[in-house]
Amino acid sequence: MSDERACLTRTFLSPAMRRANLLVGAWMQEAGLGVREDAFGNLIGRIEADQPGAKTLILGSHLDTVRDAGRFDGALGVLLPIIVLRRLRREGVRLPFAVEVVGFSEEEGVRFSSAYLGSKGYAGALRAADLALRDENGISIRECLRKRSGRRGAWKPPGRAHSPRQLLGYFEVHIEQGPVLEEHRLACGVVSGIAGQTRAKVEFAGRAGHAGTTPMALRHDALAGAAEFIVISEMLAKMRPPLVATVGRIAVRPGAANVIAGGAELSLDIRHPGDGDRREALRMLRSAADRVAHKRGLKVSFQVIQDNPSVGCSPELTELLVECVHSRQGKSLLLPSGAGHDGVVLSSLAPVAMLFVRCRGGVSHHPEEQVAKGDLAASIAIVGDFLNRLAVRRAK
Ligand code: GLV
Ligand code: MN
Ligand code: MN
Repeated sequence: MSDERACLTRTFLSPAMRRANLLVGAWMQEAGLGVREDAFGNLIGRIEADQPGAKTLILGSHLDTVRDAGRFDGALGVLLPIIVLRRLRREGVRLPFAVEVVGFSEEEGVRFSSAYLGSKGYAGALRAADLALRDENGISIRECLRKRSGRRGAWKPPGRAHSPRQLLGYFEVHIEQGPVLEEHRLACGVVSGIAGQTRAKVEFAGRAGHAGTTPMALRHDALAGAAEFIVISEMLAKMRPPLVATVGRIAVRPGAANVIAGGAELSLDIRHPGDGDRREALRMLRSAADRVAHKRGLKVSFQVIQDNPSVGCSPELTELLVECVHSRQGKSLLLPSGAGHDGVVLSSLAPVAMLFVRCRGGVSHHPEEQVAKGDLAASIAIVGDFLNRLAVRRAK
C-alpha cells in the first residue's frame, strides 16, 4: 500500500494510510480484536480482559513510512503482536490484562517535518504549535484533523487515550536499523533507551539574481549559505561522536539553473543519547547559521519544530524481556536506540520496553530492508513468552 507507484511511501492521513488501516484492521479482527480508528488516524485493536478494571498493555509501532521505504520499519511492530494474539487465541490462552495493539498513523515526520504525530495524538501531547505546522501544500495539521472529524467550526484534539493509572506498559517490537545484532550473531536484542532528537527548519534568505551578469562579490546566494551550513553541521557531528546531524531535505527558490538562489530552506535533524550534548550542539549550530548569514549578507531563521529528550526503558519490563530473550537464544544484549520510536511519546503515559530484531546489513529507511524468517520466528516466540510471563507476574 503506497502513495507512490514506483516505491513504498505512506504518509500521515494519506490514501495509502487509509488502505493500510483497512487491511491491518481486518487482520486484527480475524485475530479477535475489536477495531477502531481514533481522531488522529491511529488504528487501534483491543482485547478486553475477563476481570473488570484490569489494566491495559499497549503493543504497537507505526504504519507510516519514509519515502521509498522498506517493508519492516514500523509495520513489524504492529503485525507481530497480531500474529502472537491470534496464536494465543487459538491456544485458548486468556490474559489477565487487556491488550491494545496500535498502528500509529505518523512516526517518521515526512509530511510535516515533525515526527510522532500519531503517538502524540494518542497520548494527548499534540500542542497548538504542532497543530499549526503546515505541509508542502500549506495545509495545517489542525485543518487535516478537523476535516477528518467532519466538524465545521472550531476543533480541539481529544485528550489522551488512557490515564497512566490504567496502563501496565507499552511494548514495541522494531527492527534494529543498525548492524550490532548482526555483528553479535543474535536474532534479537533488548533496548536500553532511545536517543533524544531535535528537528529544526533553517531558512536562508538572500537575493535572487542573474547567473550570468551578477559578479561573484556582489551576490547574496542563499543556497551557497545553506551549503556552507550543511558542511559545518557534518563537521561538528564528526568531531563529537556519538552526535549525529543530518540535513535530509532542501528546497531552493526560485530553483532555476541560471538564477542565483534567493531562498533555501533546509531540514536539520540532530541526535545524541545525552540531552545536554544535543542541546549544546543545537546552540552551536544556531550560532553557526547566524555567522554564515552575517558573512554572506543573508537573513536566517532557525525554528525548532521538534525537541524530544532521550528516554530510558523501564527497568522492570526490560528485565522481564531480557529473561525472555535469554531463554530463547541463550544470550541477551542490551543496546541503545539511535532511531526514534513511538515509545518516546508513550513514555509519558506508561513504562516502555522495546525488542530489537536483526535486519540484514543493518539497512533501514531503504527498500532493501530485510528480516530473516528465522528471526521473525524468534521474535514471535519472545513476544508470546513476554505476554505469558507478564501474566504470571500479574497473577502473583
Ligand atoms: C525514525 O525512524 C527516525 O528515527 O527518524
Ligand atoms: Mn520506525
Ligand atoms: Mn523509520
